[in-house]
Amino acid sequence: MRMVTLPGGESVPALGLGTWHMGERGSDRAAEADALRCGIDLGMTLIDTAEMYGTGGAEEVVGAAIRDRRDKVFLISKVLPFNASRNGTVEACEASLARLGVEAIDLYLLHWPGPSPLEETLAGFEDLQRDGKIRHWGVSNFDTSEMKALAIEPGGSACVTNQVLYNLARRGIEFDLLPWCVARSMPVMAYSPLEQGRLSGNKALAEVAGRHGVTELQIALAWVLDRDGVIVIPKAGRLDHVRQNHAALGIRLTSEDRTALDHAFPPPSVKRPLEIL
Ligand SMILES: NC(=O)c1ccc[n+]([C@@H]2O[C@H](COP(=O)([O-])OP(=O)(O)OC[C@H]3O[C@@H](n4cnc5c(N)ncnc54)[C@H](OP(=O)(O)O)[C@@H]3O)[C@@H](O)[C@H]2O)c1
Repeated sequence: MRMVTLPGGESVPALGLGTWHMGERGSDRAAEADALRCGIDLGMTLIDTAEMYGTGGAEEVVGAAIRDRRDKVFLISKVLPFNASRNGTVEACEASLARLGVEAIDLYLLHWPGPSPLEETLAGFEDLQRDGKIRHWGVSNFDTSEMKALAIEPGGSACVTNQVLYNLARRGIEFDLLPWCVARSMPVMAYSPLEQGRLSGNKALAEVAGRHGVTELQIALAWVLDRDGVIVIPKAGRLDHVRQNHAALGIRLTSEDRTALDHAFPPPSVKRPLEIL
């Protein structure tokens, strides 16, 4: 497994497992937990979930998947902005811990900027850290100006990541947000790296995929994995998809591949507002 270093020196896998839409249907839960266990066994031991997903159902699926392997996993969950007052953050985290069946979350994120003042949310994160309920905290869907505002909050420099939309079709962060984070040795966590499957069928991706004997989505994933300081969290509820995503780690893109992909999916030349799914 390729590793990425968090500020503070801890290493986490560059390729993890997303869970959005898991836990929504009771009949799918066992298969979803199997898919997560398969990923963990392949070394994709970073799991991203949120209180929002399946209204807590995804956290229950994750809890079932990791029951006998908690110590192998770097566990991430998120607080909804509407819950992110100081006390609300603590209460939301405690509810997540109960659904996950764990004593602590490794990384707890504010899901997107919301109505609570940042100082309130940060105070909640600090309470949770002091009580051993979370180890690290970070944010999600913060644009560069929001990261700059966070950085000057008291305690704001303890943020370890910003989880944002990033894939071949969504390269806006390359203009300023990604360089801003890289300059601070803060990994960016790329969500929806497969554009939720919609990159399948793209002609440029198909050509590159043909050269490597893999699928278009594996190339899309290999492209994000090729970036320094980026953690990637594709979601796969099917075992074959989990294995294909893991195999993307072994794909070495050539300069010809990168040029073809840059041509089809040009990098940004101007600042674009952060896109959110
Ligand atoms: N912070 C945020 O605001 C935010 C927003 C969105 C997502 N996220 C996180 O990021 C994770 C990933 O993003 P996402 O779920 O939106 O989208 P994604 O990972 O880009 O795509 C997931 C979709 O692709 C399919 N898929 C996965 N691997 C595949 C493969 N090898 N071949 C073909 N299809 C494949 C999955 O199908 P199957 O499930 O059927 O395998 C699923 O339908 C989420 O699950 C969540 O944890 C965070």
